Amino acid sequence: MWKFMTLTFVSLVSTAPTTLDVNDFAPINQFALRLLDNTYAYVKNDPNKLRQNIAISPLSVWSIFSLLAEGSSGDTFLELMKELRLPRDLRSTQALHLAARNILKCGDKDVLLNGKSVMFSDCSLEIHPEFCKAAITYSTDIYSVDPSNTTKLANDINYFICLATEGRILNVIKPEVLENLRMVLIDALYFKANWTNQFDPAETKVESFYNSQGKRTGSVNMMYQKGNHSFGDATSIEAQVLELTYGRDRQFAMLILLPFDGVSIQTLLKNLATHSLSWMKEYKLSTNVPDVEVYVPRFKMSSQTDLIPPLQYSGIISIFDKQRAQLPGVSNSPLFVSKTIQNVDIEVTESGTVAASATVIGLETRRLGQKFVANKEFVYLIVERCSSAILFAGVYEDPTLF
Ligand SMILES: *[C@@H]1O[C@H](CO)[C@@H](O)[C@H](O)[C@H]1NC(C)=O
Ligand SMILES: *[C@@H]1O[C@H](CO)[C@@H](O)[C@H](O)[C@H]1NC(C)=O
Ligand SMILES: *[C@@H]1O[C@H](CO)[C@@H](O)[C@H](O)[C@H]1NC(C)=O
Repeated sequence: MWKFMTLTFVSLVSTAPTTLDVNDFAPINQFALRLLDNTYAYVKNDPNKLRQNIAISPLSVWSIFSLLAEGSSGDTFLELMKELRLPRDLRSTQALHLAARNILKCGDKDVLLNGKSVMFSDCSLEIHPEFCKAAITYSTDIYSVDPSNTTKLANDINYFICLATEGRILNVIKPEVLENLRMVLIDALYFKANWTNQFDPAETKVESFYNSQGKRTGSVNMMYQKGNHSFGDATSIEAQVLELTYGRDRQFAMLILLPFDGVSIQTLLKNLATHSLSWMKEYKLSTNVPDVEVYVPRFKMSSQTDLIPPLQYSGIISIFDKQRAQLPGVSNSPLFVSKTIQNVDIEVTESGTVAASATVIGLETRRLGQKFVANKEFVYLIVERCSSAILFAGVYEDPTLF
């Protein structure tokens, strides 16, 4: 099993400020909606995928990268600050991070919500104590491992993810993915809740499903209920919004955003990514119908997404660049992020929703100029090494099977 690193730091959790209001989460939500837009754009780039269901867990991505921001400098720092929309000073950033953590300590008895973070690092890698302290502040457990045995490390990571997601996400990390990694950061989320007003399974019927141009694309098991839900138009984003709440306390809800007729999903996603979050209040004002008839498909999906391209579209670039990444606050070894993989599993049924995610971020040592491939025309010199005298010189450009 994992060897727990000896830690002598004092936990800061109890001393940092944690009182924040709704507006303080706007930066995280804006990051989330931009990431969704960019993930959709990235996935749609694949011409073989005409239609694809997408699911991401943006809070996990935000959490891990804002932790890495604390160890970054130069362009890497500026890009993370800008795109994660982090407050200018460290104390406010930590307060925001802790507030995000505190959402997970949900008091609603009808809702099961768990978030777990862990850092596995190469026992031979010297991590700066300040970075460890920051990780611990954000409730990240730190384990020291021997990453050269990728089979064992993959087992440990998959075991952690399995426990943290109540068995919803299993064996998603293959040993090959872990090759050359010096540090792995993982954030896992698990959410399970019943609807405040459950759907009656007897009312569920097979019905057609359409794309935004009105063309039939297949069939779904359509659930039905008539109930008291907030819903209405949000003209700023060109969509109709329905809120389905969970549990008796209604502390959590699923918002379903249906584009207006003639508006594509791309346009809706672009609107969400670029407009203010006022739509989250706007739709509640426009109508006040006590009994709305609701039709929502029952669905289940699992996805694995490489989030590096969508994050690059968002402007986070240098942290993934082995030449330019600047993470001096993490370790003296020059590191860069070479893997960002997110697995999400979600199931929406008549009784409620189960959603789980595991975000795995891998860091490698920057090995500059490690590879030399003479597979194009080259010049060669034969020299005497003390004097550097050139004894022979030549050009090789006509390949033969010697
Ligand atoms: C959720 O709904 C299911 C099915 O209706 C029920 O069996 C279960 O007890 C409910 N759970 C909670 C926590 O209310
Ligand atoms: C790697 O770990 C696995 C599982 O713990 C073990 O069976 C195997 O012998 C290890 N391989 C090496 C090369 O140490
Ligand atoms: C609907 O819910 C709102 C609050 O969510 C409440 O004020 C209203 O009385 C409810 N209406 C009915 C008909 O239950």
